[in-house]
Amino acid sequence: MNALAGKHIVLGLSGGVACYKSAELARLLVKAGATVQVVMTEAAERFITPVTMQALTGRPVYGSQWDAREPNNMPHINLSREADAILIAPCSADFVARLVQGRADELLSLLCLARPIARVPLLLAPAMNREMWAHPATQRNLAQVAQDGATVLGVGNGDQACGETGDGRMLEAEEIMEELAAFFAPKRLAGQHVLITAGPTFEAIDPVRGITNLSSGKMGFAIARAAREAGAEVTLVAGPVHLPTPRGVRRIDVRSAQNMLETVAGQAQEATIFIATAAVADWRPANAADQKIKKDSSGQVPQLSFVENPDILATIAQSERARAGQLYCVGFAAESENLLAHASAKRVRKGVPLLVGNIGPATFGQDDNALLLIDENGSHELPRASKAELGRQLVTEIARRLNTSS
Ligand code: C5P
Repeated sequence: MNALAGKHIVLGLSGGVACYKSAELARLLVKAGATVQVVMTEAAERFITPVTMQALTGRPVYGSQWDAREPNNMPHINLSREADAILIAPCSADFVARLVQGRADELLSLLCLARPIARVPLLLAPAMNREMWAHPATQRNLAQVAQDGATVLGVGNGDQACGETGDGRMLEAEEIMEELAAFFAPKRLAGQHVLITAGPTFEAIDPVRGITNLSSGKMGFAIARAAREAGAEVTLVAGPVHLPTPRGVRRIDVRSAQNMLETVAGQAQEATIFIATAAVADWRPANAADQKIKKDSSGQVPQLSFVENPDILATIAQSERARAGQLYCVGFAAESENLLAHASAKRVRKGVPLLVGNIGPATFGQDDNALLLIDENGSHELPRASKAELGRQLVTEIARRLNTSS
């Protein structure tokens, strides 16, 4: 289950062009299983209509503290008591200033002030022009609302509606969803530093050609996201893949198995958990040509010879820190048949406490998967689900094993 399923979110819109993104945000929240109660300021209603927000959320929108639809005529009390969280997106510079002052002259500020502060978190997704964002008054106000208990999400950088370019754009709806999911997720890996490899490697034949495989990197990226949600510091070493970097994750791009090993060996000095999901090429061309190998008219084809690549997982699993119990190593096995037997043998061969088996042809490039976890006590299946969901379940399983061994 994702962390937002069943949550009741009060989505507050203050005035800004970014209100158009809040329609998509509302849709994504509903899709994730949250109920969404929209509250709009008068200024927000100049940018997007309550009709759109009501249609997307299936609930009437509130805009006035005098709304007589509430039997007790106290929408600020009722709406804030129902909420699992209040998210203001977009949160204008003016709205931040109102929060700082504790204003209560319109419904949205009023319900933020009236919320039970210990139980109902307040998250802000600021949106404004770059000069407004950089202004000392705004920065001072943001620091103050954070001190008063609000969580201030970041802002994006780029083109702004005013034609200028810089910091202050509201995060995209997908990015806010990632931040919210992380906010609600149990912090099972707090204090851990997780190092993950993902994707294929690319082994050069010459400057324009190479050998690679069909790994999409989706499983490793999903685990990276789940580990960050769970409070870990995450470093993701990625082969050539076309996937966006999960928010809050440090990504290092590499190409070949040798690049990957060098990077991982360095990063592993700091890590406490290493998860090897990369589909590392087993062999590489022995001598990559410096120039493009040309086709000539002789009909001769190039003869390639190969050498074996280093086994990154086995190397790290044998490192001093791993053997001293300071680095918990998790391997993956993509098999085409007889998963339990092959994966169990691989666990022993690689020298790792936990090995995760999956059926290679059924997972490469897919958005879902099924996993078989094998450790010294036996095996445990995580049935077919989205990779996002399996990433979270695997993180939970790893956290449980770390907690019982420490
Ligand atoms: O031996 P095999 O490739 O099946 O092992 C799979 C596991 O080992 C995966 O966790 C993979 O990331 C890792 N691996 C590695 N370096 C290699 C080959 C595999 O880290 N050269």
